[in-house]
Parts: sequence; C-alpha cells; structure tokens
Amino acid sequence: TEPTSAEIAALLTEFPDYPKPGVVFRDLAGLYAEPGMLSRLATRVADRFAGEFDRILAIESRGFVLGAALATLTGLPLTLARKPGKLPGAVHQAEYQLEYGSDRIEVQEGAVCPGERVLCVDDVLATGGTLQAAGRLVELSDAKVAGLATIVALTGLGGRERLAGHPVLALCEVPA
Ligand code: PRP
Ligand code: MG
Repeated sequence: TEPTSAEIAALLTEFPDYPKPGVVFRDLAGLYAEPGMLSRLATRVADRFAGEFDRILAIESRGFVLGAALATLTGLPLTLARKPGKLPGAVHQAEYQLEYGSDRIEVQEGAVCPGERVLCVDDVLATGGTLQAAGRLVELSDAKVAGLATIVALTGLGGRERLAGHPVLALCEVPA
C-alpha cells in the first residue's frame, strides 16, 4: 500500500537550529530505514506521473535516493544532475540562490534527449531554488519538464509558488 502523508510525517525527525539557528532540519533517515518504505514512496511518485515521463533526473546528493528507486521501479533512464565541477565533458549549468550566495547544478550535454519528458526528483522542497534549476537544465537540453517530485515539501517558504508552471508532487507537507 502507498504511504500516506501522515505515515511519512511520523517517520521524520526534527532537529531544531540545524544547520543554523532558527532552521528546523527535517531528517529523512528514519524514512529510509523503514523496511519497504523507499519502494512504496517511489511507487507513489511513479503512479502519479504514470505514462507522463521518459526519463528521471535526480539531483545530487539527497535526490539520488528516490531517483534510483524510481529508475529501478520503472526501468526508465536515470540521469544525475551534479554539483559544480563533478561531470566530465560539456555541461549545461543552472544557478540558484541560497540564503547567502548561490550554488549550481549541471547535466552533461546530450545526457537528456531533445523532446523527452523528464521527471525531476529530490528529497525535500524548501525555497524551490534547486528544483527550479533542475527544470532549467531540462529546458537547456531542449526537453520538457514532466514534473517535479519530492518526498517532503516545507510550507511557508514560497517553494510551490516559485515552481508554478510545472506539476509539483510532494508526498508529505510539513511547516518549515
Ligand atoms: C537540500 C535538499 C534539497 C534542497 C532544497 O539539498 O536535499 O536538494 O536543499 O532546498 P531548496 O528548495 O531551498 O532549493 P542541499 O543543497 O542541502 O544538498 P545535498 O542534497 O547535497 O545535501
Ligand atoms: Mg539536496
């Protein structure tokens, strides 16, 4: 059976003031440690976008977990969006803002085929900057964003608003 939002929320652990004062860190370790849970999470994502995507784009590093599970479940191609400087050869780049400064993710040119429908996956949606950048990588590859999926979405940070225009799936919403 597919996990409910309440079941997911119950397996999250809160760490107040991590990694900095005022921030509550939502740790997904208990979710991944729950027997059978990862495959049930992936099934929920796969069912929501069934028939709507040709490739999975998983975002380094915590997005790799759901991305690999989804690729195993569906048999669809998996592409890794990496942090700066990790990929050989020519790459597409997308920058996004952090609280202080910016970061960047990259995909190899040619890794995503023109016209493909790509599902971008990550563990957590917070401000939405990371998934928005993933969507830009898909568009720079002349492909289409089928959707943006995460296990957890933190509400109150404007993430969903920022991602308006793409279908967004979060399996569980918790206040930031
Ligand atoms: C965390 C999390 C998401 C992102 C969400 O990753 O895994 O990728 O932040 O935040 P946003 O919606 O505000 O962009 P982080 O950059 O900490 O790196 P990691 O996955 O490599 O740990
Ligand atoms: Mg991350």
